[in-house]
Order: sequence, then C-alpha cells, then structure tokens
Amino acid sequence: HSRHSISILLLNAICSVMESKVRVVVRVRPFLGTEEPTSRCTSIQGNSLELSSTVQKTHYKFDSCYNQDSEQSQIFAEVSDSIGDVLSGINTTIFAYGMTGAGKTHTMQGNADNPGIIPRVAQRLMDLIEKQSGNTYDISVSYLEIYNEKVFDLLEPKAEDLHIRQDARHEIVIPGLSTQKISSFSQFDRVYRSGCLNRTTAPTSLNKESSRSHAILCLYVQHKEGDKLITGK
Ligand SMILES: Nc1ncnc2c1ncn2[C@@H]1O[C@H](COP(=O)(O)OP(=O)(O)O)[C@@H](O)[C@H]1O
Ligand SMILES: [Mg+2]
Repeated sequence: HSRHSISILLLNAICSVMESKVRVVVRVRPFLGTEEPTSRCTSIQGNSLELSSTVQKTHYKFDSCYNQDSEQSQIFAEVSDSIGDVLSGINTTIFAYGMTGAGKTHTMQGNADNPGIIPRVAQRLMDLIEKQSGNTYDISVSYLEIYNEKVFDLLEPKAEDLHIRQDARHEIVIPGLSTQKISSFSQFDRVYRSGCLNRTTAPTSLNKESSRSHAILCLYVQHKEGDKLITGK
C-alpha cells in the first residue's frame, strides 16, 4: 500500500513537469520471479496509465506509455530524434526516474543481449556522424557517479569528491571531471564498460545498495560549420 501512495506522489509530480518542454514516457516492467502477479495495479490504454487500488482507480496521461511487453528498441525510438538535434547544437537530457527496482538500469544500460538507451544512443550518434561528409566531428564522453552526495569520476577513478559548480553563463561545470575522446562505437563501448565496472553498484562490487547511486553519462559533440563552432551534448 505504501508503495502505491509513493507512486501516486511521483505521478502527480511528473504530470506537473509535463507542462514544460519535457517529454515523459512511462514504462511498466514485468513482474519479477519474487513478486505476486495477482497484485497487478496498473493498466495502460493509449497514453494513459490507470492505477487501481481497492478503493479507487486513477488515470494519468503521459506523452507515451509502454507495458511489460515493450522492447528496448521501442523505448529507444522515443528518444532517438533528439540525437540529430545534438548534432545541430541543441542540448538534450534523457533520464530515468523511479524507485529502486523500477527498471532504470535495465532501460538505460540494459545488457549485452539487450542493450538499453545509452549504448543505442552512442551507436546512432556514431552512425549519423559517419553519414555527414566533409565535416569532422570531435566527440568525447564523461561519466560520473553521485553516491552518498559525493561526485566521483567513473572514467578516471580517484578517491576525491568532485564539486558541481555553475559558471557565469549558468552552465553546470564539474572542474576535474575527465573526458575521453572517442571516434567509433567500439571505442565508446570500451570506455563505457570500464566506467560501469567502477560504479559502487557494479556486479563486482560488494556494495549492493543501489538506491543511493546515480550516474550521469555525457556525450559532447563539436564541429565547425565554416567559422562557426557548433557544440551540443
Ligand atoms: N522492462 C523489463 N523487462 C524485463 N526485466 C526488467 C525490465 N525492467 C526491469 N527488469 C528487471 O527488474 C529488475 C530491477 O530492474 P533495475 O533496472 O535493476 O531497476 P533500478 O535500476 O530502477 O533499480 C532487474 O532484475 C531487471 O533485469
Ligand atoms: Mg539501477
């Protein structure tokens, strides 16, 4: 029951965010082996999610809703248009929000057989750049983890906690955060995998408490059009 109340609070907060330029997509995951399938309390009709309790049914509208049968490729299709925007210098953020066990890691990272949004975005970005003739693009990546309110560089792990600052143009900057240049998907994949292994929640880590761990992977794209430098991330 408390899980249900928390979900309603989350859904109300998300619905108010949707008034802005943000697109919100809901993905319901399948029941896990340990869960009781008779306790299903969600159903999807079009882009509306119905949440039912013993006393009431409530409907929430989103930009799109996906049920437990959705494929990684369908979720990627929801965000893939924004990759072209980044090449024209428009910054984009894709993030997963939800309580522990909701499916954020599955959706964003996925696994080798069924890659999630992050590797698919990198692949598509590289494919798009390959198709542009005559332009040379600089692409780099940074990857950080926020754990227990501290910021750690996953690509160049050191013990120190990095600081998040805002510069004079109100851009978020993290002095000391490393970036690595990449020029192919396989280079990206190598960097990304090694970064994932450095997370406190990596399978090799003794720390299983994922709820306090957040990670931000950033891809920076830069190229020249005539004399003009176009940057997007
Ligand atoms: N859409 C999905 N299809 C199949 N299994 C999923 C799906 N979403 C999540 N899971 C499984 O549910 C469990 C919790 O998901 P996870 O992504 O680790 O949650 P989170 O990162 O939000 O804490 C994992 O075992 C994951 O493989
Ligand atoms: Mg996770």
